[in-house]
Amino acid sequence: MNFQSILQAVAADVAPAVGGGRVANYIPALARVPIGQFGIALHTVDGEQAAAGDASTPFSIQSVSKVLGLTLGLQALGPALWERIGREPSGNPFNSLVQLEREQGKPRNPFINAGALCVADRLQSAHADPSRAFAELGQRLGGEAFTFDVEVEHSERATGFRNAALANFIKSFGQIDNDVDTVLGLYYRQCSIVADCTRLAKDFAYLANGGRQPGSGEQIVTREQARRINSLMLTCGTYDAAGEFAFKVGLPCKSGVGGAIVAVVPGKMVLCAWSPGLDETGNSVAARLALELFVTRTGLSVF
Ligand code: DON
Repeated sequence: MNFQSILQAVAADVAPAVGGGRVANYIPALARVPIGQFGIALHTVDGEQAAAGDASTPFSIQSVSKVLGLTLGLQALGPALWERIGREPSGNPFNSLVQLEREQGKPRNPFINAGALCVADRLQSAHADPSRAFAELGQRLGGEAFTFDVEVEHSERATGFRNAALANFIKSFGQIDNDVDTVLGLYYRQCSIVADCTRLAKDFAYLANGGRQPGSGEQIVTREQARRINSLMLTCGTYDAAGEFAFKVGLPCKSGVGGAIVAVVPGKMVLCAWSPGLDETGNSVAARLALELFVTRTGLSVF
């Protein structure tokens, strides 16, 4: 397949949808991002790359970082990570509090905010400098440390009342060990990682390749762990739209309110599509459509 011309065709087809939805205006620094941008890139397990549109424009990866957090958490703790975090879709918005009370402060999965905060807590205990662990994971994945956008980080810290509520609520059940502000600080920092479509497609390629990074040959997580990260991305990676994503795209996906969606074609490639306009579930309107168009054109889906 000529992936370059396929991505160009997808970018052309998706153009009418670019600008639809709304940017994540609950984080002031993200509210300023121009909505009319779209990029898409892919990286195959054989090292082939293709890209179209604004694929090299940097953006805030936001909740896509929850995959990196889960990767670091599994590396540090293995199955013990699941003592405090479930593996079920929540069927609720990514920042919802409602299930936590009924379920004694054990978040449904590591991709909703509550679950990512629990992962951050475990990383805080496992690493002397956990934000450095995120930066260095970038080095291992793509040969370049991840960088953080301090403005986005501070902007979210100043307005993150709901995340603060979540973290305090979980702590009240004894399911967070560290200081709440420290855990929130790590979470905001990981969400502020800056990358572009080309980089994310390349850096997440280990998920399509049994946990081994194709470029360096380095085993990032075990084959079994990679399979499980993918299954959680499919069932929980796009929150209360996960069913619709499975139906329309049929790939493990992880979205972020910066407008990125990373999608894994197991054994073949990783794609990253990005456009800042979000639907009401916090998933990018144009990125989601682009992934759907890609799968329709290529038949590359797990189903
Ligand atoms: O905590 C938040 O609300 C953001 N830092 C991340 C949320 C997010 O990206 C949800 N994704 N679709």
